[in-house]
Amino acid sequence: MTPRILIEGCAGLASLSLAVVCGRPTDAPWSRPGSKTGYARALLRLAGLSRWRPDEIVWAEPSADCRMMLQAYPDAERLRLAAALCREWGTAAREEGQRELWARLKAEGPPGEYTAREVARVAAVQARTVSQAGTEAFGGRFPGNWKPNVDRDKQAYPLDHPRRQMEVIAGARWPSTRLYRDAREIEVVGDAFAYFDWPYFGTLSYGPGDITRPDALEVMRRWSAAGSLVMASEAVPLAEELGEGWWAVDIGTARTGAARSGANRGCVTEWVTMNRPPAWRPGEQVGIFGGAR
Ligand SMILES: C[S@@+](CC[C@H](N)C(=O)[O-])C[C@H]1O[C@@H](n2cnc3c(N)ncnc32)[C@H](O)[C@@H]1O
Repeated sequence: MTPRILIEGCAGLASLSLAVVCGRPTDAPWSRPGSKTGYARALLRLAGLSRWRPDEIVWAEPSADCRMMLQAYPDAERLRLAAALCREWGTAAREEGQRELWARLKAEGPPGEYTAREVARVAAVQARTVSQAGTEAFGGRFPGNWKPNVDRDKQAYPLDHPRRQMEVIAGARWPSTRLYRDAREIEVVGDAFAYFDWPYFGTLSYGPGDITRPDALEVMRRWSAAGSLVMASEAVPLAEELGEGWWAVDIGTARTGAARSGANRGCVTEWVTMNRPPAWRPGEQVGIFGGAR
């Protein structure tokens, strides 16, 4: 049975949802460690859902900066207003004023009420930050340095960044969405594709809200018991811990687009654990545990 709902249970900037809704892997307004843009195609192929359009999308994410953006994704009117503000600020600042623009907007403090201006401010700051998970001011764990906009390396960005990404996302046809703070709070149903991109245990921590391994496994078991297709990404396979009926596949070689960055740079394994046999296998890089028959 084709699932009805997409659950992106550790949403971050929801790369899997962006790929599903925009019809191809699509950059979020800023980059964030652990982004799955490069693995979105592989994840959907593993699930056998390459051209799937869910009726509903449900997210869980504790970080205030990401939550602001997730609210705006399906809100085309507000997102376009935010994009227009990014154009106004970025072009007025010109190249020489980009650092001052970043510092001024960041100094306004943590994300406030959900308005087009706050969406634009949070995105404009994060898109100009050399990020582990964004700036401390926005709930990230690091002070976050300004990312120069001049074309000295391949991370250069346009003056009105991230206007273009916002306009692409605003132009997509979004189903209804719901946003929770914690993956454990989402009502468990049986007709979902429930994808959890857990913080990789023992590597980068995103903050005090990070879920523990036993809780993560418990969440996966609950969704599986309800009958949903369950999939989780981690640096290691989780199938042996979960037991009978779970498969693990390394999709490290199936990444598309830019190379990995941040805490996971150099990490060559990218494990997906799922409660069904994978519908596709990336070359020979497949290991099967638990439910192998
Ligand atoms: C590897 S990142 C996800 C990146 C995401 N797949 C993307 O493409 O942007 C893990 C995310 O899980 C979030 N997280 C941590 N604890 C959580 C919890 N209890 N419930 C939901 N999300 C949580 C972190 O804030 C972080 O954004």
